[in-house]
Amino acid sequence: MLIVANWKAYIESLEKGKKLFAISKRVSRTGSCTIVLAPPSPFLGVLALKNKSRVSFAAQDVSATLGGPATGEVTAQMCASAGASYAIVGHSERRAAGDTGNIVAEKLAHALAKDLIPVLCVGEHERDHDGRYLSFVREEITSAFVALTPKERAKIIIAYEPLWAIGKSAESAIGPHDLAEMVLYIRKVLAELLPRKNVLHTRVLYGGSVEPSNIRDLARSSRVDGFLIGHASADERMFTELVKELS
Ligand code: PGA
Repeated sequence: MLIVANWKAYIESLEKGKKLFAISKRVSRTGSCTIVLAPPSPFLGVLALKNKSRVSFAAQDVSATLGGPATGEVTAQMCASAGASYAIVGHSERRAAGDTGNIVAEKLAHALAKDLIPVLCVGEHERDHDGRYLSFVREEITSAFVALTPKERAKIIIAYEPLWAIGKSAESAIGPHDLAEMVLYIRKVLAELLPRKNVLHTRVLYGGSVEPSNIRDLARSSRVDGFLIGHASADERMFTELVKELS
């Protein structure tokens, strides 16, 4: 199982980041999970550069620019150079801040060009009875993939993160049955975009209020390959328990 810990802006001190990194190293030695930490960008290089552990690092986002006169931008090249091997792209909080489908596609291409493995976030705002949420997710995946080569497409990890489930508590997360259905649906969409052998290898994660109390059921009952975890990954106790639940 792949666990991507999205620290968002919950971790505001390097000390706390170091502590969580130390915990991750410890639990990754014994457990069967692969842990990827996504710290805020000022902490990425400090934590990742000399890292020789089994824990890997992700950028929380990459810029749509390619460097040059762009104050404040954090490019894919900077993230790679700071030690990231993954990049979260298209997170709903970035989309809410203005990332359109085109910008997400551009960011994906930049991440891939720097050999960062993209974790592409998709997910509907709300569930309706007519299945419009399905077409919404299909469109998000398709528009992100359209300009990429089959080889590039095969490198992408999909994180299904319905917006209605993000940042709450376990009771508000998706249920195992609905998640299983959604993972199947996403694989069906991927089958239209990827050669067959790659569809089976593409990892599909779930994110949205994953906590120690629901992670095991979600993992067991659906064909999900891992989780993108927000608030619970920034809490030492919850994070340790989360990994234990999967081991
Ligand atoms: P959450 O966030 O676990 O706090 O719901 C998940 C995410 O937004 O990646």
